[in-house]
Amino acid sequence: MRVAMIGTGYVGLVSGVCFSEFGVDVVCVDRDEDKISRLNNGEVPIYEPGLEAMVESNEKAGRLTFTTDLKKAVHGADAVFIAVGTPSRRGDGHADLSYVYGAAREIAAALNGYTVIVTKSTVPVGTGDEVERIIREARPDADFDVVSNPEFLREGSAIEDFMRPDRVVIGTGEERARELMAHLYRPLFLIETPILFTARPTAELIKYAANTFLATKITFINQMADLCEKVGADVQDVAKGIGLDGRIGGKFLHAGPGYGGSCFPKDTLALVRTAQEADSPLKIIETVVELNDARKMQMAERIVKACGGSLEGKTIAVLGLTFKPNTDDMRDAPSLDILPALQDAGAAIRAYDPEGMEEAKGRLADVIWCENAYETMEGADALTIITEWNEFRALDFDRVKSLMKEPVMVDLRNIYNPGEMAEAGFKYACLGRPGPAS
Ligand SMILES: NC(=O)c1ccc[n+]([C@@H]2O[C@H](COP(=O)([O-])OP(=O)(O)OC[C@H]3O[C@@H](n4cnc5c(N)ncnc54)[C@H](O)[C@@H]3O)[C@@H](O)[C@H]2O)c1
Repeated sequence: MRVAMIGTGYVGLVSGVCFSEFGVDVVCVDRDEDKISRLNNGEVPIYEPGLEAMVESNEKAGRLTFTTDLKKAVHGADAVFIAVGTPSRRGDGHADLSYVYGAAREIAAALNGYTVIVTKSTVPVGTGDEVERIIREARPDADFDVVSNPEFLREGSAIEDFMRPDRVVIGTGEERARELMAHLYRPLFLIETPILFTARPTAELIKYAANTFLATKITFINQMADLCEKVGADVQDVAKGIGLDGRIGGKFLHAGPGYGGSCFPKDTLALVRTAQEADSPLKIIETVVELNDARKMQMAERIVKACGGSLEGKTIAVLGLTFKPNTDDMRDAPSLDILPALQDAGAAIRAYDPEGMEEAKGRLADVIWCENAYETMEGADALTIITEWNEFRALDFDRVKSLMKEPVMVDLRNIYNPGEMAEAGFKYACLGRPGPAS
C-alpha cells in the first residue's frame, strides 16, 4: 500500500507519519520548499508532542519520505490524501477551497492506475463532487474515486487522536474505494475503533457538525460563567454537575476567553454560510459566532477593570499566547484580539509562551518578548493567564509578588483557586467563580 499525502501541515504531517507507523509507505508532499527541506534535514517544523521521534523512526525504516514533487508522489500511489488548508475566504466567511481544487488539478495530471483520492481537509458539503468533476474533466481516462475522510485529531494530542480515535468517518458510495479505505485503516479495525461508512456529503457535514457542536458547548459554558458571576454560583461546579450526566459529558465545559485556533472559528463561519446558501440558516451557530467574537473584547475589559478602570501607562504581564497548550499554532488565538485591545487602552505588554512566540512575533506588534514566565512580571501592574500551559499552573507566588508592582492576577483559564489566591495576597479575578467572601 502506498499513500501520497498532499499538504504537510498539522494534519498532513501527523496523518502521514501515523499511516507510516501502521506500516504503509507514505510520501508527504508540500509546496513549501522550506518545510520540506527542514523535514529532510530531520527537523519537524511544528510543535506536536511525540511527533519528532515518530518521524525519525519511520524515516529510518524507509517508510516515510518528504518531497515537493507532487507528480512523483502521486504516480503509483494507491491513495492520495488532500490535507491542504481550507481557511476562511476573506469577506464572506465561506471556506476558501482554492488550495483543495488546486491540489485536485495537480493530482489529476499525475494519476495512473486505480487511485482513491481522499479529502482529509475540512470541506463544505459538495466539495467532493467538485473535486471529482475537476479530475474527470482534466483526465477523462483516469480510473479513480473521491472519498471524504474528515480528520478529528486535536493539536497537542494529535498522535494519540490519530492512532486511537473515537471514530473514523469514511464517505463513499463506491465498493472499491470502501475496500481500500478499510484496508488502510485495518490497524484501527483491529482495536475496534468504530468506523462509520456513509455517503460522501454526509461525511463532509459530520465534520462541521462536530466542530460547531463543540464550539457551541464552549460558548454555552462561557455564557453560564457570566451568569454564575451575577448570581453567586460557581461555573466549575455547574460544569461538573452537568458533565457527569452521560448525555452531556464533561469535556469542552471549561469557561475561558473564547474558542480560537485553526478550526472552530473558520468552521463555524463556513457552516453558517453553507446553511444560509441552502436556505436553512443555523441561527444557533450564528449566535455562537457572534458571542465568541464579543467574548475576546470582554476579556480585555476584565483586565482593564482589574487594573482599576484604566491601563494608561500600565504594564501587563501575559502568560500564554497560543489558542491552547501543547501547540505552537497561533491561528485565531484569542490573544491576537486581547493584546491589541490592551495596547489600545494604553498598556505595555510583556509576554511569554513556551512554544508560540516565534509565530506570535509575526502577528503581534510592540510586545516585549520574555524568556520565561517570571520575566514578564518584572514591574507589571497585572498578570493575565491566557493559555493554561502546565508550567503556569504552579507559579511561586512570593516570587511573583516580589517582581510585580501590584499583585493583580486575571486568570482567564481558572487554573488557580480564588480562596488560595486571596490568602496568598493577590487581587485575583477569574471566570464564573465566586471570590472567597461570597
Ligand atoms: N489543524 C488541526 O488541528 C485540524 C484538525 C482537523 C482538521 N483540520 C483540517 O485539515 C486541513 C489542513 O489543516 P492544517 O492545520 O494541517 O493546515 P496547514 O496550513 O498546517 O497545512 C496545509 C499545508 O498544505 C500545503 N499546501 C497547500 N496547497 C498545496 C499543494 N497544492 N500541494 C502541496 N502542498 C500544498 C501548505 O503549504 C501547508 O503546508 C484544513 O482543512 C483543516 O480545517 C485541521
